[in-house]
Amino acid sequence: MPSRDAGDNFWWRHGVIYQIYPRSFQDSNADGIGDLQGILRRLDHLVSLRIDAIWISPIYASPMADFGYDVSDHRAIDPIFGTMEDFDRLLEEAHRKGLKVILDYVPNHTSDLHPWFIESRASRHNPKRDWYVWRDARADGGPPNNWTSEFGGPAWTFDESTGQFYFHAYLPEQPDLNWRNPEVVAAMLDVLRFWFDRGVDGFRVDAIHHLFEDEQLRDDPVNPDWHDGLPPARQLLRIHSMDQPEVHGAIALMRGAAKSYADERLLIGEAYLPIERLMSYYGIALSGFHLPFNFHLISTPWKPKAIAALIDEYEAALPQGGWPNWVLGNHDRSRVATRVGPEQARIAAMLLLTLRGTPTLYQGDEIGMADVPIPRRLVRDPFGKNAPGFGRDPERTPMQWDASRHAGFSASEPWLPVARDFASRNVERQSSDAGSMLSLYRALIALRREEEALAVGSYALVYASDNVLAYERRLGQRGLLVALNFDDRFEELESLSPPARLLFSTDPAREKEDFARAPKLNPNEGIVAELTPPKRLGR
Ligand code: NOJ
Repeated sequence: MPSRDAGDNFWWRHGVIYQIYPRSFQDSNADGIGDLQGILRRLDHLVSLRIDAIWISPIYASPMADFGYDVSDHRAIDPIFGTMEDFDRLLEEAHRKGLKVILDYVPNHTSDLHPWFIESRASRHNPKRDWYVWRDARADGGPPNNWTSEFGGPAWTFDESTGQFYFHAYLPEQPDLNWRNPEVVAAMLDVLRFWFDRGVDGFRVDAIHHLFEDEQLRDDPVNPDWHDGLPPARQLLRIHSMDQPEVHGAIALMRGAAKSYADERLLIGEAYLPIERLMSYYGIALSGFHLPFNFHLISTPWKPKAIAALIDEYEAALPQGGWPNWVLGNHDRSRVATRVGPEQARIAAMLLLTLRGTPTLYQGDEIGMADVPIPRRLVRDPFGKNAPGFGRDPERTPMQWDASRHAGFSASEPWLPVARDFASRNVERQSSDAGSMLSLYRALIALRREEEALAVGSYALVYASDNVLAYERRLGQRGLLVALNFDDRFEELESLSPPARLLFSTDPAREKEDFARAPKLNPNEGIVAELTPPKRLGR
């Protein structure tokens, strides 16, 4: 598959991305933890879904304090996940099957056991001292300022042997690199090139909004709106400790590295920011990320009007030429089936796969997996240990492949418990059930591939009522109406003119013929209908 078409149309504009959290995807060596050979074994599942690319969360050498987001060698595969040979085989095989491979790049911090940090903390005069962010204590011996870690507690840790504090936006085991040091920049850009040269198709760039902090180390002000439901780090308004202007220069350099390949490689940025701030991550004249992740569907109330307003705000804010993207879930956030319920999870799937912009799916959402409650003694996530209630284990439980022991994920006890419903909710069972979530995902992705209007057509809101969201996707003469019922009652679609032909429904029981006569939505139903010639719904 060529990476661009004649219209400078990168593959990812009409592609679907699938996130693999490797610890929980498939174990091949019976240690209870997923690995690269496991992913290789399950590639056909992804082929049958007809996604375009897999993004694999970190697989590099790591002490696993944050399950791989604490890298101790950027150019080695952690033995838990396999070997470099396994990786090369996976890459080759994925490519052979038409799948792109996107890796995770963690530029903000390393592991405290990375050789760079070991040197840096060895003495104040070590050549790598300035590779991390070291500062003296305040006069009273306390940390240099009030900044807090994402995972709770202060963002500074005192190093006894050299008598200074180092900064960490996350765990003390994840010291922040100093991107103001040109040697750090050069070393980290080399990491990108190392993997690009091996044939990796792109990167998801971790925690990019944390790359720089205020050089004067000004205190963050207190957040007057903080309440118990918000993570501890939000007690402060982090105006000085994240999202600093210097970040865009660094991203432009990463983009330069991606661009230096004939088939420009993809860069996706992870930043949880309000829409107007997020837009700056496309960069000046699109010199930044191809896709700054848009997580707003995760945090917006599940109501048609709120979602319509979000889509309008996001579409309107996009810079000229900036390509949109949408995300329903990932390994850091409660699963969509838990947030909106199993019925509405089908509507969410249709929304994700019919909006304008690249969709990213999270493993397990395609079979409707829900968060799994984790008893306290089994909590693994350091965030969950520091701040009970905020742990991310519930959305990271093993993939449910079949009804056999441990859901076909592993031959031994998995690192996190398998959901109780695995015997009924699994890939094997749903594969042969036309009404299953998996069949819905497969059909929606197939529809998106067939209908260019869904993948790259324009978006226009038709209407949003208390229970229904209706919008039009259009490419030239081809117009499609998407109408989603957010409620469990029947909903009339009023003034539909001319009668549209029903193309697709999320409801397996739907009779296509009756739609033309009296267009209405069944409870919790989403539909895609043909609107040809172009006409609008009125209300
Ligand atoms: C965002 C990642 O998605 C999350 O899992 C990780 O803990 C932090 N960044 C720190 O790398």
